[in-house]
Amino acid sequence: MAQNMTDNSRVLIFDTTLRDGEQSPGATMTHDEKLEIAQLLDDMGVDVIEAGFPIASEGDFEAVSDIAKNARNSVICGLSRANYKDIDRCWEAVRHAKRPRIHTFIGTSPLHRGITNLDQDEMIARIHETVTHARNLCEDVQWSAMDAIRTERDYLCRVVETAIKAGATTINIPDTVGYTLPQESADIIAMLLEKVPGADQVIFATHCHNDLGMATANALAAVSAGARQIECTINGLGERAGNTALEEVVMAIKVRKDLMPFTTRIDTTKIMGISRRVSQVSGFPVQFNKAIVGKNAFLHESGIHQDGVLKNVETFEIMKPADIGITETNIAMGKHSGRAALRSKLQDLGFELADNQLNDVFVRFKALADRKKEIYDDDLIALMSDSAANTDTDYLQVKWLRVVCGSDGQEAELKMLVDNVEKSAKCEGDGPVDAVFNCVKTIYPTTARLKLYQVHAVTEGTDAQATVSVRMEEDGRIVTGSAADTDTILASVKAYVGALNRLRVRSQKTAPDADVKSISYKL
Ligand code: KIV
Ligand code: ZN
Repeated sequence: MAQNMTDNSRVLIFDTTLRDGEQSPGATMTHDEKLEIAQLLDDMGVDVIEAGFPIASEGDFEAVSDIAKNARNSVICGLSRANYKDIDRCWEAVRHAKRPRIHTFIGTSPLHRGITNLDQDEMIARIHETVTHARNLCEDVQWSAMDAIRTERDYLCRVVETAIKAGATTINIPDTVGYTLPQESADIIAMLLEKVPGADQVIFATHCHNDLGMATANALAAVSAGARQIECTINGLGERAGNTALEEVVMAIKVRKDLMPFTTRIDTTKIMGISRRVSQVSGFPVQFNKAIVGKNAFLHESGIHQDGVLKNVETFEIMKPADIGITETNIAMGKHSGRAALRSKLQDLGFELADNQLNDVFVRFKALADRKKEIYDDDLIALMSDSAANTDTDYLQVKWLRVVCGSDGQEAELKMLVDNVEKSAKCEGDGPVDAVFNCVKTIYPTTARLKLYQVHAVTEGTDAQATVSVRMEEDGRIVTGSAADTDTILASVKAYVGALNRLRVRSQKTAPDADVKSISYKL
């Protein structure tokens, strides 16, 4: 199992939040958000960042190439199908990196061979040709056998051998549909290491999806059997039920050193900050009981647990909150708290702000403090999310709102800026939210459809802020918008308008059929 690395206990962390994660419906990030997330991943010690799928759209290409230009330590990787055009475009984007990687893939299972219309031998030839081409461009080439788990074992050995002979340096064995179980995940890696000539010269990677809730277990089982690269995403973001969660595999390796004698380069104290940021920019809230980064992951509600933890923290805690960067005290801030206190509190919560950003957040903080007596950590996290999602440079901005509601009916009056021109509308609706959304549609007619509308109370009490997330779809593009406010209706309209801004940006950047989510699986 030596696999091309001197330290056989090192497990490489390959993060694909910006590619597989961003592929989940609604998780679109802007160019600047992608750059920011890439920098956070680089800072936390991620070995390889899969920054996007350069052929998929102009926007993806630009994001990958800008991330490549800015990366400091991480290898920057782009995805490409098994054809020259994809591979050349990928190389054009990643070649700016200090350490570039081309990742090329093809579906090897009978089902996927059917889609690509290649028989076994034709596919072998295609793999040889495309990996050789990639290797002529770049020294670091990763090859993936998409749907490897459902590929006939003998054929899997043949395709892997072909890719190694053609020069691939990393071989990825994806469980594309989240179908495998830990024992099988381990057996396949062990089989490949044992049977495939040259297997000891490459690094084997595991890439698991979470359809059966097994992604973390399957990835760790593959590592136990000899894989030395885990492909994962922050918060387990990804298509359908998501990918292996970075924070889970990294903390499992750290906490269970006795059973998993491996190391990663991840600075685990950065986990919470990046988890919050990815949740904000993707619009995907983290479920309360999510392992490691969920709001309740370190909460002890029952009397027995609280008593135990107070006497000896190890009674019910297998890791410390500080290990993942939680230093919050949950002491309330209020309207008398100053700028320095706010900055220090936000730093504790994992937000590093430049002076101009702090000024903007401070104004919003004071406005919130005027309406809400005590401001808790969760209020500040919601406030940060809101200030990132809704800014005063947006094309559409909510300026003023009045809603009359009661048993006699609902009516809303709204003033908005559309490209800096003030417009207003007065509409009725089936409830206050419907009335105010009707105003937006009157001011800014659109074919976008609302797919999801969700409200959460940030803290307890009737003065709590509400965070509202909406998901909208237009021409096959799906985006999310979110906002927070003590006024639920105001938060709703800001989230709705935020989603419309995102749709507008995306429609300018990509033709519908050039979008990564609709790119076809053709060669
Ligand atoms: O799940 C998968 O098979 C993938 C490949 C493109 C690596 O994401
Ligand atoms: Zn995947």
